[in-house]
Amino acid sequence: MLIAFEGIDGSGKTTQAIELSKRLEAEGIPNEVVREPGGTRLGEGVRELLLHRSDLKISPVAEFLLFSASRAQLVEEKVNPMLRAGKTVILDRYFYSSIAYQGFGRGIPIDEIEAVSRFATGGLLPDVVFLVELDLETAMRRRENAGRRADRMEEAEVNFFKEVISGFKECARHDPTRFIVVDGKAPIGKVSERIHGNVLNRIKNLAEERNAP
Ligand code: ADP
Ligand code: TYD
Repeated sequence: MLIAFEGIDGSGKTTQAIELSKRLEAEGIPNEVVREPGGTRLGEGVRELLLHRSDLKISPVAEFLLFSASRAQLVEEKVNPMLRAGKTVILDRYFYSSIAYQGFGRGIPIDEIEAVSRFATGGLLPDVVFLVELDLETAMRRRENAGRRADRMEEAEVNFFKEVISGFKECARHDPTRFIVVDGKAPIGKVSERIHGNVLNRIKNLAEERNAP
């Protein structure tokens, strides 16, 4: 099973991905969390270029292709082999982030993003995407409280993030059977309980589909 977490910076994706992983582990469901950009040696190198090299000039198209390159490597090197081995993979961001940040945020046409993402991933779609929704002010406050310094993407203007938020909303609206929107403002335990419940349901449904005559 392939599960993705999406949402703006500081919304709680990593927290929820790890919570879910622990819960599944405790139930004997083998799983691994991988992050984007990153997750492989190449991907971590690309991550460094994209987020922490303020000396580099990176155009929107180059930025999108670098995120896509990291994604292509992650799918080929880790995600596909783990899925083939029967592991559940939990993605901390996937190509919906490119739709939201590079599409809605930077203005790259969405159909181009979709076409390149299909190429980069071989068309691999998650079984479920949890969109952790949180307002910008709370997300920024949380990031400050956690002592996180803004990376190159996080230095963008407020308007950019408003576009990103509406991009994620659009993704969810377009694909309502795949997306589950969760309230990032609710307590961590409440959110993770809901996510866990949903994943168990989907695992059950997948098993029933497989066993159906
Ligand atoms: P993201 O991966 O989306 O950037 P994180 O999971 O790293 O977000 O969370 C950002 C900060 O907010 C962390 O300090 C985390 O402990 C805190 N946090 C996450 N979820 C919640 C929540 N539901 N309520 C309050 N604080 C939260
Ligand atoms: P990261 O620290 O992993 O995310 P978060 O701050 O939510 O914990 O940073 C990844 C940054 O890269 C984040 O600002 C979103 C951005 N990004 C894109 O712009 N496009 C993409 O396709 C991906 C995967 C990430």
